[in-house]
Amino acid sequence: MEEAAISTSTSSATATEPAVELEGITKRFPGVVANRDIRLSVLRGHVHAIVGENGAGKSTLMKILYGMQRPDEGVIRVNGSPISFRNPADAIGAGIGMVHQHFMLADNLTVLENIVLGSEPRKGGIAIDFSAARRKIKKISDAYGLGVSPDVLVEDLGVGARQRVEILKVLYRGARILILDEPTAVLVPQEVDELFDNLRGLVREGLTIIFISHKLDEVLRVADAITVIRRGTTVASVDPKDVTARQLAELMVGSELPSPETRESTVTDEVALSVRGLTVRSADGRTVVEDVSFDIHKGEVLGIAGVEGNGQAELVEAIMGMRPAEGTIALGGADISGWPTLRRREGGIGYVPEDRHRHGLLLGSPLWENRILGHQTRRPNVKGPWIDRAGARADTERIVKAYDVRTPGIDVDALALSGGNQQKLIVGREMSGDPVVLIASHPTRGVDVGAQAAIWDHLRAARARGLAVLLISADLDELIGLSDSLKVILRGRMVADVDPGGVTPERLGSAMTGAAAGAESPVAAGAVAGAVAESPAAAGTQGPVTAGAVDGPPATGGPTDAPLERPGSAAAEAGEEA
Ligand SMILES: Nc1ncnc2c1ncn2[C@@H]1O[C@H](COP(=O)(O)OP(=O)(O)OP(=O)(O)O)[C@@H](O)[C@H]1O
Ligand SMILES: [Mg+2]
Repeated sequence: MEEAAISTSTSSATATEPAVELEGITKRFPGVVANRDIRLSVLRGHVHAIVGENGAGKSTLMKILYGMQRPDEGVIRVNGSPISFRNPADAIGAGIGMVHQHFMLADNLTVLENIVLGSEPRKGGIAIDFSAARRKIKKISDAYGLGVSPDVLVEDLGVGARQRVEILKVLYRGARILILDEPTAVLVPQEVDELFDNLRGLVREGLTIIFISHKLDEVLRVADAITVIRRGTTVASVDPKDVTARQLAELMVGSELPSPETRESTVTDEVALSVRGLTVRSADGRTVVEDVSFDIHKGEVLGIAGVEGNGQAELVEAIMGMRPAEGTIALGGADISGWPTLRRREGGIGYVPEDRHRHGLLLGSPLWENRILGHQTRRPNVKGPWIDRAGARADTERIVKAYDVRTPGIDVDALALSGGNQQKLIVGREMSGDPVVLIASHPTRGVDVGAQAAIWDHLRAARARGLAVLLISADLDELIGLSDSLKVILRGRMVADVDPGGVTPERLGSAMTGAAAGAESPVAAGAVAGAVAESPAAAGTQGPVTAGAVDGPPATGGPTDAPLERPGSAAAEAGEEA
C-alpha cells in the first residue's frame, strides 16, 4: 500500500516538545527480558505508533507507562518531569489514559453509567451527580466530535461507537496522553476511518496519542511518527512518509518477509459441515441468528463477513454446541445437533474462539496443560483412561516450534505470553489431531504480519489436505484472501454472497454495514455488481456457493447501526489485555 504512506500532517504548532520520554527502560520477567534499554520520545500533539512482532514488548512498555507494571531500570518523563507511578491511578493523575484492546464496558449499563463508574462526581459526598456528569460528557463529545450520547445502553452500540465511549471515558478522567493498544482490531474499514478522524481531532487540540497496531497500512495512514521495537528494544524511529508497509515489516522482523503464496482452489464436492435453518435466540427471546443455512465442503474455506455483533458469535457458539439453537447441524453426514460440545470436538471440529481469554486458555496454567484443554479425551494427551503427561508435553513442544510461539518454555503460564503468542498457541492446538472442520473466529487477531502469514500457510496446507474451514474475521484482507466463498451476515441473517475473487475490502465493508442497499449508493450502483448479490432465500439448501457472482438485485439491508446484542461480551472480557 505505497500510496498510504502519506503523512496526515496533523501535527500542530504544539508538536515541538516531548510529552513522554522513556530512557533506558528495562523490564525482566522470569526467563525473558520484555523490555531492554528502551528509548522513546513522543512529541506532544503527535499520533505516535509503536510497532513490533508479537512478544516484542509493546504492551509491557505501555503497562509501565500506565503504572500497571514497574520498570526494573530506566527513567520516565512526562512533560519534562521524571515520574514514578505506583499504579494506574497515579498515571491518570499525571494525565495518562489507556484504552485496552478488549472492551471493558458493561453492556447492561448506559454510556453515562459506564463513564462515571469509578470516577463519580459526588454531591454532598454520597450521591452521584449524574447531571453534572452528563453535561461534562456532552461537552467532551462535542469538543472532539465523538458523537457519544450519554443515555443509550452500551449493548445497543456498535463496536465503533463503543470504541469512542472507551476513548471518552479516558478523556473524562482528564487524560491528555492516550494509549490505544490495538484499537482497530475489531473495526471494519469505515469505522477505522471514523476513529482516525476522531484521533486527528484530538491531536489538533494538543493531545498526544500512542497507538499500537499490527495493521501497518493503517499505521502509515494515521501516524506522525513510528517507533519499531524488536525483541524488547527500540531499533528504529521512522517518519511514515519515508517507509512502506513492507519496509516497516522488515524492520520489525529484522529480515525479509516471506512473499504470499498464490491461491489454488482445493474445494471438493464432499460436504464436511452442513447447517440447515439454524436459528438462535438470546436469553430475552430475541432472534440473533435467523434461519441460516450453508454447506462447507472438504478443502473449502467459507468466510463470514460482518460487523462484529451481527450474530456471528452466536452462530459459532451454536455450531459448537455452546448455546441452544433450532435447526440441524451435520458433520460428515451425521446429525450432531444434539451433541454436547466435547463430543463435537471429538468428532473432528477444531475451534479457535473469538475471545481467547474467556474460551481459549486457562491463563493461570502452564502451556502444556493448555495443550490438553478441550482435547482431554484424545491422543496424545491421554493413554487409556490416563492423562499422558509426556505425550502432551512433547506435543506442546511441537506446537511451540511449528507455530513459533515465543516463550521461555512450556512450563510458563499462558498468562506470561504476549497476546499474539497466546493466539498462536491456540491455533496450533486446534489444528492438531487433523480436524475435519475448523471453526475459526478471528484466527490471527493480534498476530503480527509475519506470524499471520505463517498461520495462513498452515491453514492453506490443511485445506489442501481436505480441511473445511468456517472463517470469521474482522480483517477483510484475510477474509478475502483465504476464503473460497464468502457470505455477509447482517442482523443475524445471511444477506449476500460475495465472490472473494472480485471484491475489495472497501466494498465488502460497505456490504457488511448494509450500505450496499441504497440504490443511490455507488457501491450498489455498480461497483459491487458481480461481487455482491442478494442471497436467494434458499441459497443454503442449494449446496455449494460457487465462486462467481450470483445474478440478482443488490443486497437489501436495514439501518447500519443496529447490531445485535452480544450477551455478556463486555464485563467478562475486562481481563487485562495481554
Ligand atoms: N506477566 C508476565 N510474566 C512473564 N512474562 C511476561 C509477562 N508479560 C509479558 N511477558 C513477556 O514479555 C515479553 C513481551 O510481551 P508483551 O506482551 O509486551 O509483547 P507485545 O509486544 O505486546 O506482543 P503482542 O503483539 O503479541 O501483543 C513476552 O516475551 C512475554 O512472554
Ligand atoms: Mg500486546
